[in-house]
Amino acid sequence: MDKIRIRGGKPLNGQITISGAKNAALPLMATALLTDDTVTLVNVPRLADIDSMAHLLVQLGVEVAMSQRAEREMRLTAADIRDTTAPYDLVRKMRASVLVLGPLLARTGQAQVSLPGGCAIGTRPIDLHLKGLSELGAEIELREGYVQAKVPGGRLKGAKIVFPKVSVGATENLLMAAALAEGETVLVNAAREPEISDLARCLNAMGARIEGIDTETLRIHGVERLRGCRHRIISDRVETGTYMMAAAICDGDLELVGGSLDHIGAVAKSLEEAGLSIAETNRGLRVRRVNGPLTGVDVMTEPFPGFPTDLQAQMMSVMATATGASMITETIFENRFMHVPELCRMGANINVHGASAMVRGVKRLTGAPVMATDLRASVSLVLAGLAAEGETVVNRVYHLDRGYERLEEKLAACGAEIERIAAG
Ligand code: EPZ
Repeated sequence: MDKIRIRGGKPLNGQITISGAKNAALPLMATALLTDDTVTLVNVPRLADIDSMAHLLVQLGVEVAMSQRAEREMRLTAADIRDTTAPYDLVRKMRASVLVLGPLLARTGQAQVSLPGGCAIGTRPIDLHLKGLSELGAEIELREGYVQAKVPGGRLKGAKIVFPKVSVGATENLLMAAALAEGETVLVNAAREPEISDLARCLNAMGARIEGIDTETLRIHGVERLRGCRHRIISDRVETGTYMMAAAICDGDLELVGGSLDHIGAVAKSLEEAGLSIAETNRGLRVRRVNGPLTGVDVMTEPFPGFPTDLQAQMMSVMATATGASMITETIFENRFMHVPELCRMGANINVHGASAMVRGVKRLTGAPVMATDLRASVSLVLAGLAAEGETVVNRVYHLDRGYERLEEKLAACGAEIERIAAG
């Protein structure tokens, strides 16, 4: 397995181009199942999770073709759906595979999707996806580790669905399913992450009739048929936030080309409160640490527009070297502090009490061999390594490859001393 070696303490200066958003691209790829026309996605990031989703779609019968013009493009054509099963091996590897459930049911009237099982960051059930789909008329059974779903009569029927809890994935599955259902569906307490809005806009370009985009109530007038479209994926707000934090932890001055303040408002507010300077440029955002060390700020993760759970680990690395203390509270996933023991091995002073971590800033972190069990935890260790004295080796780089395109190249181009050590 590849590793990443970092020698910390170098300032970061320069430009980083933000890639297309992984968590927007994955559901957008699943929309191809809703039509026999071609869906063309532009600005597709080069990531392991994108390859996994493409692999699953190919197994279902979707033709997938990549090309590179000014930006990376993916053409997906589901003229003939040959299979309606998302098998255990693929779903286990990438939970977002469950996003084929809604589109398969809407298009073919049946789907078999493996239950994803546990995950490094929490139990992550899919009960809200299943409850919503049964409210649209699907019959759902859980058998032999699989969700076995079918639609009596072949077509889902619109309904009012009130989510008891905000869920990104359940909102996406229901949005795609309802687009082809008969009649009107209303999703109440829907997630309003920018990735949801991007999905809704793409569906509308395919001929869907979705109102209330960017709000917590989505109204979908079902249509009989969707057509193909060409859609440009939004830039990755989690990647943007991660590099903002790289500038924060490293005495940096970075321009994040393609980064958007609209998608990262809560994070920008916390980082500004801590002392980072953030300004919009005509190409993105400029982030700079200007007045010495940052100061500790309290942060609590929440659904959008709150502070995203996907940036909690990175913020903790930044706070680990800030002046004073910071209380970081995780409200979305119950087990998302796996980076804490590793950060402590690098000299951080962090105590976890239930869902909160008390971070007392230290003057300096020290390099160490580290490893993490998920994507965002791994990148938080990279950030800590950039600021630490000495050498840090981050193991299990495959986590990073799931969600960060050319991470080490982008950072090295701005002055970081970071390299990939290939396995073997
Ligand atoms: C999406 O996961 C993202 N993944 C996650 O990104 C992100 O952390 C998460 O949203 C929260 O923002 C993708 O978009 C592919 P949820 P998702 O359903 O959809 C509970 C990353 O690092 N819940 O909004 O799975 C759930 O357990 C990742 O890129 C239920 O109880 O998240 C959690 O506590 C990891 N029942 C909360 O809701 C359900 O049926 C929010 O989960 C569904 C969810």
